[in-house]
Amino acid sequence: MITLMYISCTQDRPRAANAHVADELQAGLEAIDPWISPKFLYDALGSKLFEAICELPEYYPTRTEAAIFARHGAEIARVAGSGATLIDLGAGNCAKAASLFPLLAPSQYVAVDISAEFLCDSLERLRQRFPHIAMEGLGMDFSNRFELPEQVGSERRLFFYPGSSIGNFTPEEAQGFLRRLRAQCGPDGGVLLGVDLAKDKDVLDAAYDDALGVTGAFNLNVLRHVNRLIDADFDIRAWRHHGFYNPARGRVEMHLEAVHRQEVQWKGGARVFEAGDTIHTENSYKYQQADAIALLERSGFEATRVWTDPQRWFAVIHAQAIG
Ligand code: AVJ
Repeated sequence: MITLMYISCTQDRPRAANAHVADELQAGLEAIDPWISPKFLYDALGSKLFEAICELPEYYPTRTEAAIFARHGAEIARVAGSGATLIDLGAGNCAKAASLFPLLAPSQYVAVDISAEFLCDSLERLRQRFPHIAMEGLGMDFSNRFELPEQVGSERRLFFYPGSSIGNFTPEEAQGFLRRLRAQCGPDGGVLLGVDLAKDKDVLDAAYDDALGVTGAFNLNVLRHVNRLIDADFDIRAWRHHGFYNPARGRVEMHLEAVHRQEVQWKGGARVFEAGDTIHTENSYKYQQADAIALLERSGFEATRVWTDPQRWFAVIHAQAIG
């Protein structure tokens, strides 16, 4: 079967999906402890719901990270260096990178996101605002192996991975991921990473189970997406959202719980869920600052620099690829 590696925003708009998607979803739904990868949270509506989450008073990461960039941006840009090939992983609405353009002045901006349609719309708007910056949009899944196409500059690559999306990986997976970035950095490359730090359970519980229920809608929307991807018949009303900090495992977890007994069918399979059965949809690991630095240094990076907020809730970290 032919696997589509990426959808370029300069070519046709998204059509085909990756052939591995159906296999991965099926395996998760049939597992003893069922799971759906958090990457499937991001269809076009999911990306919009995530934008709304970033506006919530309870969801501190976006605001805290932005405050760190506002306060230390000039120094971060000095350390990271201007004129780089800025590769924005999980770019979404591209707002974070765009706010750094004046400081970083990238020679090329490469926006990568699994939510191709949303990404291409965002990039189109960005091109109008910054017509002098060369831009490339890639709709692709970079969570496992990935290759950057030839139109991505190979000089001074700076991988930008903000928002603490690294937390979706287990620490072991994160190491594998960072090593793959290291291998694609080339000479003089680096990473600029946002990492959410471990903190009070009350703060984390509220951030992932907000009063308005936006995070609940975001989580439930994964079922709508799965319905489309593999022709499943999940009844959204028969599931409820759980989002909470699990301090023993150092991570926030999101689950969906079946409200009553039901059978769900999809192209290639079916499963009965009893009332109370759950599907694990996301982990969001929270790091100690020292552990995040150690992770980077185990993954082939050095000269690590860290900027944080006064409460030490979030860290922005730059590290250079070891040459
Ligand atoms: C985009 C993975 C950083 O883990 O905080 C927000 C996703 N999930 N609310 C996070 C998310 C629930 C977010 N990341």
